[in-house]
Amino acid sequence: MRWIRAAGRGLLVAVVVLTGHVASGVPADSARGDGRGPVTLATGGDLTGYLGPLLDDWNRTHPDEPVTLVELPDSPDETHEQMATDLRSGTGRFDVLNIDVAWTSEFAAAGWIAPLERDRFPLDSFLPPVVDTATYRGSLYAVPYVTNAGMLLYRKDLLDREGERPPRTWAELERQASTIAPKYGLDGYAGQFLPYEGLTVNAVEAVHSAGGTVLEAEGERVTVDSAAAREGIGFLARGVRDGWIPEAALTYKEEESRQAFQDGRLLFLRNWPYAYVGASGPDSPVAGKIGAVSLPGPDGPGTSVLGGSNLAVSARAQHPETATELITYLTSERAQRQVLTQGALPPVRAALYEDPELAARFPYLRTLRASVLTAAPRPKSPHYDQVSLVVQAVLHDALAGRLTPRAAVRRLDRELAAVARRH
Ligand code: GLC
Repeated sequence: MRWIRAAGRGLLVAVVVLTGHVASGVPADSARGDGRGPVTLATGGDLTGYLGPLLDDWNRTHPDEPVTLVELPDSPDETHEQMATDLRSGTGRFDVLNIDVAWTSEFAAAGWIAPLERDRFPLDSFLPPVVDTATYRGSLYAVPYVTNAGMLLYRKDLLDREGERPPRTWAELERQASTIAPKYGLDGYAGQFLPYEGLTVNAVEAVHSAGGTVLEAEGERVTVDSAAAREGIGFLARGVRDGWIPEAALTYKEEESRQAFQDGRLLFLRNWPYAYVGASGPDSPVAGKIGAVSLPGPDGPGTSVLGGSNLAVSARAQHPETATELITYLTSERAQRQVLTQGALPPVRAALYEDPELAARFPYLRTLRASVLTAAPRPKSPHYDQVSLVVQAVLHDALAGRLTPRAAVRRLDRELAAVARRH
């Protein structure tokens, strides 16, 4: 199978070269019977530059089991769509899938990804919460690869000048965003509020931080109708209404919001740690002027959503043994170090967070580790894609002032219950 990347990111033209298949449709080289041979690795296209050299190394040492990288679009929703379409159709173009941690249950429940043997992977070496995102109904269906946790980036130079410390509570954030930001001609606070997976993340963080939940029991129980959920949604909606969240933030994904902060247009930004790395880079006007702390909540630190991605083996992989070994390779300590140093993505190996050299180079690692250890996963559901679409739509209406927080929570309750009932 060969892939040609055409005209810009995200547009892929697949050229299927029909070698290796005999007339019966049985893969010719399955006769080898050892599950080894060429594989494809499908991943969202963002921040994958560092993967090239890692896979080149693999290909040099595995000439009979080469891996071909298939880059899908940057947006998680579009990557999900392309993977789901392929897996549903059964054409089996992707062997190893780099899936968002939020999708493991859905892909496992649909039978798209194969269960894995726990003792083939060093699960004890990973930060504890990440392993849970790779399991569904007690079985391991993927291996943690990258983790992530939301953090609050802030303009340290401006808070220092005002004699203020970074906010620990929503009230402090609100006060500083509405009083300090305008003095310097900045907007107050932004997250990712365009309707897509990022808005689901921001919404779930607000609900969890206030002590609420959205779904329990692997998606079968809807728990969102609570005072905590109203408080969390109310916090975000009030920001837009009162202007300390700029309206432009309703169009932001991760990159647009990072750009706004990096250009010096924002006092506070909720984002993943990669944004800290970008805003500290040599071309950034705010380099040296920023800090990162845990997300605030109503009475103290809030709760990040656990982000990141897991590597899974397609249930239709023709060479599952090679696929499994590729996962072992990509989660090795050496590869994980590169995930951080070359990719600016948080590794899953716990030891790297204790490494003095890395701690000096990435000053946010300690905060990040604490945020990952206390982060909460998104709702687990075999219909997570539909759950997320409901959350995005309702939250966007609430942030745009078309629904009160009370009405938003009622609608979430009703529509999430309908998703659970439909299946
Ligand atoms: C990051 C996270 C991922 C999340 C996405 C939302 O890529 O790692 O888990 O779904 O952002 O935009």
